[in-house]
Amino acid sequence: MKKLSALLLTAIVVLTIGSVALGQGVLKVATEAGFMPFEYVDAQTGELMGFDMDLIRAVGEVLGLEVQIDNIAWDGLIPALLNGNYDCLIAGITITPERQQAVDFSEPYFESVLTVVTKNGAEISGLDGLAGKIAAVQINTTGDFAASDLADAGELKSVSRYDTVADAMQAVIIGAADVVLIDLPVANAYLQANPAAPLHHVGPVADNEFYGIAVNKTNKALLEQINSALAELKANGTYEQIFQKWFGAN
Ligand code: ARG
Repeated sequence: MKKLSALLLTAIVVLTIGSVALGQGVLKVATEAGFMPFEYVDAQTGELMGFDMDLIRAVGEVLGLEVQIDNIAWDGLIPALLNGNYDCLIAGITITPERQQAVDFSEPYFESVLTVVTKNGAEISGLDGLAGKIAAVQINTTGDFAASDLADAGELKSVSRYDTVADAMQAVIIGAADVVLIDLPVANAYLQANPAAPLHHVGPVADNEFYGIAVNKTNKALLEQINSALAELKANGTYEQIFQKWFGAN
């Protein structure tokens, strides 16, 4: 009897350790869903939609993990990951050396570039000639970093930082700012979704940047799992399918 219960105990311990190692079957993900077409809330269903959402759900499927996604504030994403509230972040997050000090990134999964959004009729064609102008940006984004550099160099009057892309766009619409510095695919989706907005963008204005899935530096095992899942999704055509769904010609 004693032997049996010792055996049982061993079995329970082994099973418990096993399921912890597998993340208990759940991948806890955070995003900020104000970044169409990468992540947004469907107005009809309230569901989280977009390229990133499809991609991380596909990653979960490969890994046999249930994907739970929370929509939280952009500026709170990395702190929430560092707190241990989430296993990973996917939110069109550009891999930068500064962010790599705080978190690990998966292999790049998307190539992007910044653009300048401005009012129709404004004589602005890029990052040159912005002296005296006001830029609106989402706080702590690559658009913010680029605008801040220009302002420091005296090539821009000031930077107004907003919590969301929608608020930054609105600032230009109402004339509180002259330009938004933002990821080009997001500018495209915004202009498409808001055809009445008197805005356009001027095309690529900087070097390309690359989005990665952010993982806590303490969780190298998950980082490797995510990278191998991404590789599998690229090899088996799923990545291409998701890409075509959101960025294909039709
Ligand atoms: N790619 C830019 C950056 O990493 C902007 C990302 C904003 N993402 C979002 N979900 N609002 O700084």
